[in-house]
Amino acid sequence: MLPEDLDHILKEAQNGFARVSSRPEWEVFKATVMGPKGRLTVASKGLADVPKVEKPAIGKKLNEIKKAVEACSDEALKRVESLAALATLGSAIDPTLPSPVIITGSRHPISQVFDRVVDIFARAGFTVRLPTELETEWYCFDALNSPANHPSRDMQDTYYMPFGLSVGSAPAHDEKDRYLLGTQTSTAQIRTMLKEKPPVRILAPGRCFRRDDADAGHSSNFHQIEGLYVDRDVSLRDFKSCLDYFIRELFGPQAKTRLRPSYFSFVEPGFELDVMTPNLGRLSNRWFELMGCGMVHPAVLENVGIDPDGFSGYAFGMGVERIAMILQGVDDIRYYYQNDTRLLKQLA
Ligand code: DAH
Repeated sequence: MLPEDLDHILKEAQNGFARVSSRPEWEVFKATVMGPKGRLTVASKGLADVPKVEKPAIGKKLNEIKKAVEACSDEALKRVESLAALATLGSAIDPTLPSPVIITGSRHPISQVFDRVVDIFARAGFTVRLPTELETEWYCFDALNSPANHPSRDMQDTYYMPFGLSVGSAPAHDEKDRYLLGTQTSTAQIRTMLKEKPPVRILAPGRCFRRDDADAGHSSNFHQIEGLYVDRDVSLRDFKSCLDYFIRELFGPQAKTRLRPSYFSFVEPGFELDVMTPNLGRLSNRWFELMGCGMVHPAVLENVGIDPDGFSGYAFGMGVERIAMILQGVDDIRYYYQNDTRLLKQLA
């Protein structure tokens, strides 16, 4: 046996162990080197025939080689075992994961306001119900205590649909009930209360349509957010404190509010909520009108089968473009629909 033979055995062992990729392969290969008939075992036995003078040197070399081969074998075993463990975890790629949402632009300024308002009210326990865009006269007016021929209907010039239309997802009240494009998100009050029992604490962000001529302050298609809370013993004080919380979250802790009496068929008393705050550029330190609101009219509760003697509530409705214009310092509503990136980039 020559030292070169031993070096050769080590080299082959290193190559062989590097190639094994499973425990059975490792066992088979190990036997060819270190088993009873393995090359290294056979070589060790050859030590007996080595001349006495060479024995110490060759014996030492043999030990070194054995150690190196064992280290190599241990390392290979660790590797195949961790491969086996990885295999039980499945593929490194999970094809069922949703793909990342790649946003190349930014939220539209109107969507930003939606998100902000919804977030503030969500923290006060309000959950979202989406209003119906294609509505009917009963849901949009009658049920909201605005009967036919009542002058309040004229405040909302309406796009009516042809007679005979029917929409399964937003059923009409009866066969005389005519479809129209929702003029206000207040309709969500009715559809929600017909389906859900109090306590009802909802926010309805949606799209409205009115036959308005477009100018700096008007658009025939715009957005509103409606809020409604109905439960036992809801008081005007609850109402005011909820709106105060909202206004301070939106405009900052220095914002002041006031309720100014106003008329909306579905609330009594009805108000406009005015806001004054020191940090709003041109609008600073003067009252401006922000939304309509009030205590839910008993007739509305009756229309949806809720006993007005047992329950009360408040409602509010705000124009999203209006809030966006105030917060973002935009002075013409039409900018929001032109999608001019020079504006969108500034408000991103
Ligand atoms: N729907 C009304 C409008 O479009 C806004 C409104 C006023 C909503 C008073 C309300 C409310 O809930 O209580 O002008």
